[in-house]
Amino acid sequence: MSRHPVLHRHADLADASQALADWVATHLRSALERQERATVALPGGSTPGQFLAALAKQDLPWKRITLLPTDERFVPADHPRSNERMMRAALEPALRAGAEWLSFASIEPGLSPEAFAKQLADRVARLLPLDVVVCGMGEDGHIASLFPGEPQARLDPNAPCIVPAFPMGLEPRISLSAMALREAGEAALLFSGKAKRTVFAQALRLGDKPVTLLLTKRRRLHAFISESS
Ligand code: 6PG
Repeated sequence: MSRHPVLHRHADLADASQALADWVATHLRSALERQERATVALPGGSTPGQFLAALAKQDLPWKRITLLPTDERFVPADHPRSNERMMRAALEPALRAGAEWLSFASIEPGLSPEAFAKQLADRVARLLPLDVVVCGMGEDGHIASLFPGEPQARLDPNAPCIVPAFPMGLEPRISLSAMALREAGEAALLFSGKAKRTVFAQALRLGDKPVTLLLTKRRRLHAFISESS
């Protein structure tokens, strides 16, 4: 099987978001033909709002599905910078229909990112391998909270499935590990804009960005790309 991604190019983010929501729903349905429950990890940030809302409207047996973020900023769930706050709002129809939400937001005051990541890893480990992961991508080629040059972006089979990250100039992060993302049954990306298209093409050529962690011979990475900026 090729390590080259399948490129789904769309005129704008709305079209790419709907196509990705349909793609995720298809893979969740096929997972549920094989097993009782299915898991999908979903991105935060500013791009995926339309995708998450389109996914939440899909006709799926939500009571048999667990939703979790690919990563979270280490802030309270109601903080303006929280991914959970944005994601739960967009996913509300699915949550109302019974989907389980596995929170990455630490509620224990005074708990360090490292200690919280250890606690969370025990819960997430029981769900692995994830059936589907969807990542956004930064203009530096990062996915989840795995940033270029950071130790968390290295493939380490011994690393826990949840890692703390401390990106320069940003709040601490809690992230699925490189292995947890890579080993998912199906993997997709969603991004828009020329800068990200350029960095993605460069990463495919040079293999030097965390996004290339999602390329494996076992399955194809599907990239849903909005051609508009
Ligand atoms: C986050 C995300 C992160 C995001 C990329 C792209 O916590 O910000 O999980 O990995 O997907 O940074 O973010 P934008 O969609 O805002 O460009």
